[in-house]
Amino acid sequence: MNKYTVPVIIAILISVLTATAQVGNRFFPEKDLITTGIYYYPEHWNESQWERDIKKIAGMGYEFVHLAEFAWFKMEPQEGKFEFDWLDKVVGLCAKYNLKVLMCTPSAATPVWMRTNYPETFVMDGHYIRSEHGTRGLGSIVNPVYRRFVEKIVTEMARHYGHNENVIGWQLDNEPDAKPDYSPSSQEAFRQWLKKKYQTIEALNAAWGTAFWSQWYSDFDQIIIPNTSLVGWWGNNPHALLDFKRYSADAQAEFLDFEAAILRSHILKEQFVTTNYTAVSTGADPRRTNKLDFATYTAYPNGGSDNIGEQGFRLGNGKVILFAAEYYKTTGGVSGVMEIQPGPVNWGSYNPLLLPGTVRMWLYHTFAAGGKLASSYRFRQINYSAEQYHAGVIQPDGITPSEGGEEYMQFTKEIKELRKKYKPGVTMPAKLAARSTAILWNLENYWTLDRQKQTWQWDTWNYPVKFLEIAKSFGAPADVIPETADLSKYRVVIIPAYEMADSALVKKWSEYAANGGHLIITCRTATKDRMGHFWEAEWAAPISGLIGAHVKATDMLSNNGKGDILMRSAHYRWNNWADLLAPDKSTEALAVFDNQFYKGKTAVVKHKVGKGTVTYIGVDTDDAKLEQDVLRDIYTGAGATTENYPPGIYVYWRDGFYVAVNYSSDNYTMNMPGTASIIIGEKILQPGGVLVWNE
Ligand code: GAL
Repeated sequence: MNKYTVPVIIAILISVLTATAQVGNRFFPEKDLITTGIYYYPEHWNESQWERDIKKIAGMGYEFVHLAEFAWFKMEPQEGKFEFDWLDKVVGLCAKYNLKVLMCTPSAATPVWMRTNYPETFVMDGHYIRSEHGTRGLGSIVNPVYRRFVEKIVTEMARHYGHNENVIGWQLDNEPDAKPDYSPSSQEAFRQWLKKKYQTIEALNAAWGTAFWSQWYSDFDQIIIPNTSLVGWWGNNPHALLDFKRYSADAQAEFLDFEAAILRSHILKEQFVTTNYTAVSTGADPRRTNKLDFATYTAYPNGGSDNIGEQGFRLGNGKVILFAAEYYKTTGGVSGVMEIQPGPVNWGSYNPLLLPGTVRMWLYHTFAAGGKLASSYRFRQINYSAEQYHAGVIQPDGITPSEGGEEYMQFTKEIKELRKKYKPGVTMPAKLAARSTAILWNLENYWTLDRQKQTWQWDTWNYPVKFLEIAKSFGAPADVIPETADLSKYRVVIIPAYEMADSALVKKWSEYAANGGHLIITCRTATKDRMGHFWEAEWAAPISGLIGAHVKATDMLSNNGKGDILMRSAHYRWNNWADLLAPDKSTEALAVFDNQFYKGKTAVVKHKVGKGTVTYIGVDTDDAKLEQDVLRDIYTGAGATTENYPPGIYVYWRDGFYVAVNYSSDNYTMNMPGTASIIIGEKILQPGGVLVWNE
């Protein structure tokens, strides 16, 4: 070894590590920006129409066709008899019209012979009733017989299409959801999972707190899956339920890895393997897989809800893509939208027409947030069956583009123009890098918080999203990261209600602040250990040193309760959650409660730690004004400028382009520097509008 060996080894290690963290990138040439595709189900249509349809797909500017997702019945019509001739024809047509293929494994929808001859392959609900044939997503993913059938079909498909250079990649299954399964196979798999985790029944008894209400076990074989249908939701054991969530998410991830491994052993290395998680996925955890090249999401922003202003019910909920686009990047370093709503759906609480421009805006939103692919469910609106009311990009006549279809065409055309303007090697503008933000989030905390909300006003899913929205209102680039992520590249790290933590994690947070980072920790953080037990110590004990304060008690109000907080001379309202804080001497009290019997007690503190700062926000407000004002000061203190975008205006920078979208019902005039030159859209963004520029 000479003096250069160590640095060289370190450099190699770093490049290997970065390469693994960013594996998804290699499938998408940067100059292509984003590639677009469409779901086509040839099995739904007369063969005589296939060529017409594929030609039309190409004509609309799409670049890939998504095939075979639920077509198991057609590929294996009888057990062990595989038929790919029909699919070969469609794949051939795609090649003829210069379209790539994204092939799907069909495990989400099984053929009828499976349920008839092998009922054990189906999940059971909490009343131990076996699901029936007739829909999708009901396979018991831990059942060995189901696995065997999946293995066969995936192997056959991989052998058949794994060397077709026109196939760019594979989607596994459909919207994996870690469904609770109470079948005998799942009961056994759960017990095995527990044995592996706890080794001894004593350890399990301690972790689950089974001394309570005589739940005590003397053997793993006595354990059944905690069953809220039969035991009740309120009275069930939260630690056992947490383990059931973990087990279900592990089983789901392992099932995806199982499919991925089969594919990988057959397919070209140029073909990617991914899956399409739902944007709001509360069961399946993409971070538990380790064989996907990257993860994608499905986005249905409009399911009949009010949203921002009068037109909000047409424009959809901006938070859907906002969160999913960042969260899913944490698997493989890149992401994209696999399904985007092409118009009204059939399952919303009501299904309005979208405001013209909305589909295009959603597409730009996914693009702006770094998306590498954007495809839509589905090409033709189907004339029959469960989703007949669901829009396609082509109307039921099979030939006329819908409004969403027209907008998609505009998008594919515009992206081709943007590609011409792409310049390689651009780096993020300094003013944006100075605002770089990370939000720490994981599903495990979602599970425990949602299980024991303490107030029905606690909005578990939207709580972290609120901080993402605040960061976006400042124009900050913001990532949603796991606890293993490197924090050092972020100017600000936000830890919203991170309920379960341990001292090693808190040490990592402290080091980040000590090295000059700006940490924002909010209520409920580190109040439980990893099993969901409270500490036998003061409330939130692991972080009291870090935040320089002690959480003395917590209050909640009714939804029309009037909690008042004073910060400098401004008053703020709260009613969801309030930690009453006792700051240490060296800690600054930023805000105090200004009514209720504890008037004068502290609500928000700031503590200097090494070269950085730690701010603790003990309050959850509905309008987020307090949180926003606290955060703005932190960014300013950290030397970053901030924008002041109103709700529904999201602005991103990617590959040299600034992109803005407008989910609000009002026009918004974008403030741009004199050097700005508009590429797409106008300075005044209308509702549903898009603006692309560079500076
Ligand atoms: C998605 C699903 C699609 C389709 C769509 C309808 O969740 O993945 O297969 O059913 O919903 O909106």
